[in-house]
Amino acid sequence: MRIHVVDHPLVAHKLTTLRDERTDSPTFRRLADELVTLLAYEATRDVRTEQVDVRTPVAQTTGVRLARPKPLIVPILRAGLGMLDGMMRVLPTAEAGFLGLIRDEETLQPSTYANRLPEDLSGRQVYVLDPMLATGGTLVAAIRELIRRGADDVTAICLLAAPEGTEAVEHDLAGAPVTVVTAAMDERLNDAGYIVPGLGDAGDRMYGTA
Ligand code: URA
Repeated sequence: MRIHVVDHPLVAHKLTTLRDERTDSPTFRRLADELVTLLAYEATRDVRTEQVDVRTPVAQTTGVRLARPKPLIVPILRAGLGMLDGMMRVLPTAEAGFLGLIRDEETLQPSTYANRLPEDLSGRQVYVLDPMLATGGTLVAAIRELIRRGADDVTAICLLAAPEGTEAVEHDLAGAPVTVVTAAMDERLNDAGYIVPGLGDAGDRMYGTA
């Protein structure tokens, strides 16, 4: 696993406002969207391209376009949905699949309640959107499912990560082609499995407690 903590003043600025408990849901959603776009820019550094010819008004030259098969973006419901638009802004021709995973608040184990993914992901680059890499259980389960379907290059974009989460990904998916891109590596998890200092429950902060 590779981990890339994006070190940029705009990323730090937006993340600080996301952390602030006084930030309301509309502002939180807007900032999360903007932050994802900045993370997506870094996360797509290795997106596959192919060479094409292009004729400018002045001359013939070569350039690149995104290679086939199209990249797949997979937000993990619920909170990952709030990251989809920001990601698609950077990769507008990508396709989206959906995975719904919920974490049992006591055992902290994930279970799948929605799965809408292409059956065959052979040779596809996949971008998984999961705002909080906490215990890592949800992300590990999601990436296992993507690799089972043939994905050969998976990048997880997380607003925040905890060391426990990245260690779980490293341990449970040892040798797998996985990169984690995040805005910050926080200190630890608390007894309830929340990232400290973190930003609280990302889904609740985006969409309320329903
Ligand atoms: N999920 C969240 O939304 N927040 C955390 O801090 C940990 C997991």
